[in-house]
Amino acid sequence: MLTLGIESSCDETAVALIRSADGDAEPELLCSLISSQIPLHRLYGGVVPELASRNHSACLPGLLRKALDTAGADIREVDVFAATAGPGLAAALLVGHTAGKALALAAGKPFVAVNHLEGHLLSPFVRRPGALRPHLGLLVSGGHSLLVDVHGAGNYRLLGRSLDDAAGEAFDKIGKMLDLPYPGGPEIDRLGDDGDPSAFALPRPLLHSQTLDFSFSGLKTAVLYLLQKLAPGGDPRLLSAETRSDLCASVRQAIVETLVEKAFAALRLTRRRTLAASGGVSCNAELRRQLAERCRAEQIELILPPAELTTDNAAMIAFAAMLKARAGLFSSLEQPVDPNLPLAGVQNRA
Ligand code: KG4
Ligand code: ZN
Repeated sequence: MLTLGIESSCDETAVALIRSADGDAEPELLCSLISSQIPLHRLYGGVVPELASRNHSACLPGLLRKALDTAGADIREVDVFAATAGPGLAAALLVGHTAGKALALAAGKPFVAVNHLEGHLLSPFVRRPGALRPHLGLLVSGGHSLLVDVHGAGNYRLLGRSLDDAAGEAFDKIGKMLDLPYPGGPEIDRLGDDGDPSAFALPRPLLHSQTLDFSFSGLKTAVLYLLQKLAPGGDPRLLSAETRSDLCASVRQAIVETLVEKAFAALRLTRRRTLAASGGVSCNAELRRQLAERCRAEQIELILPPAELTTDNAAMIAFAAMLKARAGLFSSLEQPVDPNLPLAGVQNRA
């Protein structure tokens, strides 16, 4: 079975092809192409939805052509067409979703609508599908921070989520406050490597409460106040390089510590012995270091996707679609996109 996946929920246009045999045989990722719009949105300090959708529309046909060429496949060989249906920016989602449905219609092949969050959750297993087993999922992206008890593909229990800003959103908003280029997450990660993580005491909201939910908006406010004290007029451009690095290291440590502690509280609750992290923030160097260290100490198996599968990509969409298609879960061509699509299969919260 040849599955073609399209991702266009935010500021990356992506196409991937996965070939799989019947049954549980290991699928092969034939190609995963990503065209990032980050340089375009950087001019505005964040994603501009209208620009994102126009750009998806302009570059998707070429990317589809290139993906088929790279995979050495003909479009008539594709058995399943798949695209992200949400959550994400409506105008951006519409481009990839409509293209996926149109291709399925023209080819007379089935269409699978994929939840972007499910794609991220399964992304650690794209390159090692045999490892997919019940585990705790820590999904940390620009739009979401979730702790999910993953019983299997399509069978999830939501344990915790962010009550306000997602981890990536907090990184990006703080990055903007510090006058760093968009997106702030990777910049704070890079600058934080040269700083002292204990230089500034920043809040870790909900860290020691019973809940597995996150809250990062207080951290953002604390950085805003701190900035007023550290720089004349709160102007981040007047910070010394050393203070800026210390601030980045302290912010990163506050977010990472919260994510690690909550993930381990969720592991204790669920008694899972495997932890898989996903989403753009899961390529944060300090998060990876601390998760690895803690997992080693507590003999928890840690599964991290390679960096190119942490941020938005279509390999995770094609992979989720392939698993759905194997289970006979196809989507109607009448199905619309849903910018707030909840994770399917999620039952009650703990
Ligand atoms: O998963 P993703 O590509 O998009 C969403 O689905 O939201 O995640 C993007 C997010 C952005 O907020 C970005 O700042 C963050 O991932 N990110 C990072 C790092 N690389 C990307 N955050 C912290 N450290 C990083 N190294
Ligand atoms: Zn994403």
